[in-house]
Amino acid sequence: MRHFNITFQPDGKRVSIHAGASLLEAANFAGIILNSSCGGKGTCKKCTVLIEPDKKQVLACRYIIDCDLTVTVPAASKLYEQKILQHGIDRPVKPTYVKTGTETALGLAVDIGTTTVVAKLIDLITGRLLVAEADFNPQSIHGDDVVSRISYAQSDENLSELQQLIVGCINNLIDRLCKTTGSDRNDIFQMTAVGNTTMTHILLHLPVVQLGQAPYKAHLLDACDITAKELNVKINPGANIRVVENIAGFVGSDTVAAALAVDINLAEKLTLLVDIGTNGELVSGDRNNLYAVSCAAGPALEGARISQGSRAAEGAIESVFINDKDIDVDVIGSKPPTTICGSGIIDAVAVMLDLGVLDSTGRIIKKSDLPPSISKRIITKNNQPAFVIAFTNDGQPAVVLTQQDVREVQLAKAAIAAGVKLLLKKLNITENDIDRILLAGAFGNYIKRASAIRIGLLPNIPEDKIQFVGNAASVGATMILLNTTSRELAGHLARKIQYLEIAHEKEFMNIYTGCMTF
Ligand code: FES
Repeated sequence: MRHFNITFQPDGKRVSIHAGASLLEAANFAGIILNSSCGGKGTCKKCTVLIEPDKKQVLACRYIIDCDLTVTVPAASKLYEQKILQHGIDRPVKPTYVKTGTETALGLAVDIGTTTVVAKLIDLITGRLLVAEADFNPQSIHGDDVVSRISYAQSDENLSELQQLIVGCINNLIDRLCKTTGSDRNDIFQMTAVGNTTMTHILLHLPVVQLGQAPYKAHLLDACDITAKELNVKINPGANIRVVENIAGFVGSDTVAAALAVDINLAEKLTLLVDIGTNGELVSGDRNNLYAVSCAAGPALEGARISQGSRAAEGAIESVFINDKDIDVDVIGSKPPTTICGSGIIDAVAVMLDLGVLDSTGRIIKKSDLPPSISKRIITKNNQPAFVIAFTNDGQPAVVLTQQDVREVQLAKAAIAAGVKLLLKKLNITENDIDRILLAGAFGNYIKRASAIRIGLLPNIPEDKIQFVGNAASVGATMILLNTTSRELAGHLARKIQYLEIAHEKEFMNIYTGCMTF
């Protein structure tokens, strides 16, 4: 078959790929992961690239290669340039590794997210973190949420492809970790992997079809020990890989690890652990009772499915605030704004509420009902009202939120808020009884607490009771790697945390509908 050379700028990466492949596949082959929220269906328009020399805009997923090309990838189309949260709260644990005579004993803690993968190289004897590396989950070319991955993995062939993609990603991270530290991969004797149930099932090549259908049963809830050789992970072939226990089909070992890292099982007072990623997982309770729910918030709060939404990349609006009756923005990289990321979206909706641009149902108010300082920002886009968040230098709308975008935010925030309400109901308490909220994950780390409360995403409690705990799942994975008591505790927590299946809760729809308003 004929092959063509594709050069990607500004990276300068070049690949040779067969005729008939898409530009999305070629980019992936070159190690450039593009935004592809819709999984290559051509609907999300996030994979836009420019064909040189005349910079013709095309969708990479729809463009079939039939000649040599030079392609420029804008920063906003790339997952690569976005920041990945690697670290979390400091939780040193006593290493319990028993020396077998070798001088060096290393371990690997891996957190497999739907969007990002974080790997840490740890000295098993001292417990010291040597280095951490992160990358985007290359499975993203098959959709940005677990539901798309499940639907792609219906055939054994596709499941194998997804497994190879994640193993390849972990092996690349191992290469980088070993290179940075000058370590020998054969000195890595243990690995711990955590992730949502779909991700760890794919890693183990376990069936995931049933995770996409009610009652959403996991094939495996118990921990699994497997050798590196069996999984084709390039560390010491005899190394044990521990894939940590899941709680349920939609609450996985990453939630167990995060709960372990924050000592939720020791909480004297009511604690709510909130991890909003591509999916939202909530754990609430204290040392006596713990419940978990999974909320299908979708990736709107991460910027996907918002017309000009993106992840946190250069040119994305990350913060929106009121400035003398008008609004102002902060942009990542101090560049002209081209997109808006999750923290900016939440701020924008909060500001629109404060300025009276939105009513309590989320409807954008008529231009004629607003003061001139704000009404200049109301435009029509795609036959619907829209609010201009930022203008270009020559006064054209640069970044807008449309009515449909506001509806997407409402759906996402209602899913999380209803999950919280359901948990509180189960525990027979109210918002006022919450002693602290722990926000885990990248999303939690960058949002403004006041804005999240203003739009009703988080319960209305004093801001100082809301703490950021960073990538708690990765911290928990390290604890499980280093210490046998933590490992046992993880198993204990996975069984102690009771999973509430939202679909089985009769009043959920009512609660959810009630949470849609602002
Ligand atoms: Fe290309 Fe969605 S439009 S991946």
